[in-house]
Amino acid sequence: MKIGITPGTFDPITLGHIDIIKRASHIVDKLIVSVAESSSKSPVFSLEERVSMACEALRDFENIEVDGFGGLLVDFAKKYNASYVIKGLRVITDFEYEFQQTALNSELAPDIETIFVMAPPQSMYLSSTMVRELASLHSDISSFVPKNVEKALNRKFNS
Ligand code: PNS
Repeated sequence: MKIGITPGTFDPITLGHIDIIKRASHIVDKLIVSVAESSSKSPVFSLEERVSMACEALRDFENIEVDGFGGLLVDFAKKYNASYVIKGLRVITDFEYEFQQTALNSELAPDIETIFVMAPPQSMYLSSTMVRELASLHSDISSFVPKNVEKALNRKFNS
């Protein structure tokens, strides 16, 4: 059985993430969407909130599970016997950061392969940071996030 993980901070999950996750789920038999604690990034949503939003948004997909993790990505991948880390690549500025992480992860766990899925043109520019900013400025975010995330963001920023 081919098992993959798609990691990220998902603060919060966006339609851009969901596009990548759906396509990643066609590559493997089981995909674990892995929500990182990322405490150094001081996420706006707690780990529990981020996991719960992703679970709700992905509940219709049979071969996708969502779980939270702290610590090293490769240790989490090993816990699930995952052989693949599948990530999205958007604009060119993602590349250097992703390249560093991939090199480090393959040094730590040479048996785990990282695969990149290109974001489609319509979500190349989309990021959690951008939707948080739009929500904080009380802008309409309905075309960037699933309904449950839109509600959570509007609650968070009180609009
Ligand atoms: O959505 P993000 O914030 O770009 O995701 C980054 C993430 C969570 C994939 C990355 O920070 C990560 O893998 N964190 C776990 C800690 C780890 O394994 N670090 C070593 C590799 S950089």
